Amino acid sequence: MNSGRRKFVKWIGLGLLGVCGLFVGSLIRNRLRRLKDEARPLELSLDLPQGVSFHGPVIVHRKGDEYLVISARCTHLGCIIDRMEEDRLVCPCHGSTYSLEGKVLGGPASRDLPLLRHRIQRKEKRIIIELPT
Ligand code: FES
Repeated sequence: MNSGRRKFVKWIGLGLLGVCGLFVGSLIRNRLRRLKDEARPLELSLDLPQGVSFHGPVIVHRKGDEYLVISARCTHLGCIIDRMEEDRLVCPCHGSTYSLEGKVLGGPASRDLPLLRHRIQRKEKRIIIELPT
Protein backbone atom coordinates (compact mmCIF):
# COMPACT_ATOMS: atom_id res chain seq x y z
CA MET A 1 0.00 0.00 0.00
CA ASN A 2 1.46 3.34 -0.90
CA SER A 3 1.81 6.09 1.69
CA GLY A 4 -1.00 8.25 0.23
CA ARG A 5 -3.41 5.37 0.46
CA ARG A 6 -2.31 4.57 4.04
CA LYS A 7 -2.93 8.14 5.11
CA PHE A 8 -6.35 8.07 3.50
CA VAL A 9 -7.32 4.82 5.31
CA LYS A 10 -5.96 6.22 8.58
CA TRP A 11 -8.06 9.38 8.26
CA ILE A 12 -11.16 7.39 7.37
CA GLY A 13 -10.57 5.19 10.44
CA LEU A 14 -10.14 8.22 12.68
CA GLY A 15 -13.29 9.76 11.21
CA LEU A 16 -15.28 6.61 11.92
CA LEU A 17 -13.93 6.53 15.50
CA GLY A 18 -14.97 10.15 15.94
CA VAL A 19 -18.49 9.47 14.68
CA CYS A 20 -18.75 6.43 16.98
CA GLY A 21 -17.50 8.55 19.90
CA LEU A 22 -20.15 11.20 19.23
CA PHE A 23 -22.85 8.54 19.01
CA VAL A 24 -21.82 6.84 22.27
CA GLY A 25 -21.51 10.23 23.99
CA SER A 26 -25.02 11.11 22.88
CA LEU A 27 -26.37 7.79 24.22
CA ILE A 28 -24.68 8.36 27.59
CA ARG A 29 -25.96 11.95 27.82
CA ASN A 30 -29.54 10.84 27.06
CA ARG A 31 -29.37 8.03 29.63
CA LEU A 32 -28.02 10.37 32.33
CA ARG A 33 -30.75 12.90 31.56
CA ARG A 34 -33.40 10.18 31.86
CA LEU A 35 -31.95 8.97 35.18
CA LYS A 36 -32.00 12.53 36.48
CA ASP A 37 -35.67 12.92 35.43
CA GLU A 38 -36.58 9.63 37.10
CA ALA A 39 -34.92 10.70 40.32
CA ARG A 40 -37.07 13.83 40.57
CA PRO A 41 -39.65 13.75 43.32
CA LEU A 42 -43.29 13.55 42.33
CA GLU A 43 -45.40 16.48 43.41
CA LEU A 44 -49.15 16.13 43.88
CA SER A 45 -51.81 18.51 45.10
CA LEU A 46 -53.23 17.81 48.55
CA ASP A 47 -56.70 18.17 47.05
CA LEU A 48 -56.82 14.49 46.16
CA PRO A 49 -60.11 12.64 46.38
CA GLN A 50 -60.80 10.66 49.54
CA GLY A 51 -59.84 7.00 49.21
CA VAL A 52 -57.43 5.54 46.69
CA SER A 53 -56.05 7.38 43.68
CA PHE A 54 -53.47 6.22 41.16
CA HIS A 55 -50.61 8.44 39.96
CA GLY A 56 -48.35 6.36 37.72
CA PRO A 57 -45.68 4.87 39.99
CA VAL A 58 -47.53 5.98 43.12
CA ILE A 59 -50.79 5.09 44.84
CA VAL A 60 -52.15 7.51 47.41
CA HIS A 61 -54.71 6.39 49.95
CA ARG A 62 -56.27 9.43 51.53
CA LYS A 63 -58.25 9.14 54.75
CA GLY A 64 -59.36 12.57 55.83
CA ASP A 65 -56.19 14.62 56.21
CA GLU A 66 -53.93 11.58 56.33
CA TYR A 67 -52.12 10.35 53.24
CA LEU A 68 -50.69 6.88 52.86
CA VAL A 69 -48.26 6.86 49.93
CA ILE A 70 -47.54 3.45 48.42
CA SER A 71 -45.39 2.33 45.51
CA ALA A 72 -47.58 1.17 42.61
CA ARG A 73 -44.84 -1.17 41.39
CA CYS A 74 -45.95 -4.76 41.94
CA THR A 75 -43.45 -6.72 44.02
CA HIS A 76 -43.82 -9.75 41.75
CA LEU A 77 -42.33 -8.55 38.45
CA GLY A 78 -42.75 -4.80 38.63
CA CYS A 79 -45.93 -4.04 36.70
CA ILE A 80 -47.65 -0.80 37.65
CA ILE A 81 -50.83 -1.36 39.62
CA ASP A 82 -53.51 0.93 38.30
CA ARG A 83 -56.82 -0.47 39.44
CA MET A 84 -58.85 -1.55 42.38
CA GLU A 85 -61.50 -4.23 42.72
CA GLU A 86 -63.68 -4.55 45.80
CA ASP A 87 -61.30 -2.78 48.18
CA ARG A 88 -58.23 -4.52 46.81
CA LEU A 89 -55.42 -3.24 44.66
CA VAL A 90 -55.01 -5.57 41.69
CA CYS A 91 -51.94 -6.03 39.53
CA PRO A 92 -52.95 -6.11 35.83
CA CYS A 93 -50.17 -8.54 34.86
CA HIS A 94 -50.59 -11.71 36.92
CA GLY A 95 -53.36 -10.78 39.33
CA SER A 96 -51.56 -10.27 42.63
CA THR A 97 -53.80 -8.50 45.11
CA TYR A 98 -52.98 -6.10 47.92
CA SER A 99 -54.94 -4.37 50.65
CA LEU A 100 -55.47 -0.63 50.34
CA GLU A 101 -52.50 -0.26 52.70
CA GLY A 102 -50.28 -2.29 50.35
CA LYS A 103 -50.26 -5.59 52.30
CA VAL A 104 -50.08 -8.56 49.97
CA LEU A 105 -53.31 -10.59 50.01
CA GLY A 106 -52.82 -12.91 47.06
CA GLY A 107 -49.93 -14.06 44.88
CA PRO A 108 -47.88 -14.59 42.95
CA ALA A 109 -46.40 -11.54 44.74
CA SER A 110 -45.12 -12.41 48.22
CA ARG A 111 -43.99 -9.01 49.52
CA ASP A 112 -46.01 -5.96 50.51
CA LEU A 113 -45.94 -2.82 48.40
CA PRO A 114 -43.38 -0.47 49.93
CA LEU A 115 -44.48 2.77 51.53
CA LEU A 116 -42.83 5.80 49.96
CA ARG A 117 -41.21 8.66 51.84
CA HIS A 118 -43.05 11.91 51.41
CA ARG A 119 -43.44 15.41 52.83
CA ILE A 120 -46.72 17.21 53.19
CA GLN A 121 -46.54 20.95 52.67
CA ARG A 122 -49.92 22.16 53.91
CA LYS A 123 -49.22 25.83 53.25
CA GLU A 124 -48.41 25.11 49.59
CA LYS A 125 -51.17 22.45 49.49
CA ARG A 126 -48.91 19.83 48.05
CA ILE A 127 -47.36 16.50 48.79
CA ILE A 128 -43.79 15.76 47.67
CA ILE A 129 -43.07 12.09 47.13
CA GLU A 130 -39.61 10.58 46.84
CA LEU A 131 -39.63 8.05 44.03
CA PRO A 132 -37.30 5.08 44.27
CA THR A 133 -34.61 5.01 41.57
S1 FES B 1 -46.16 -8.35 38.06
FE1 FES B 1 -47.81 -8.14 39.40
S2 FES B 1 -48.54 -10.11 39.65
FE2 FES B 1 -46.89 -10.34 38.34
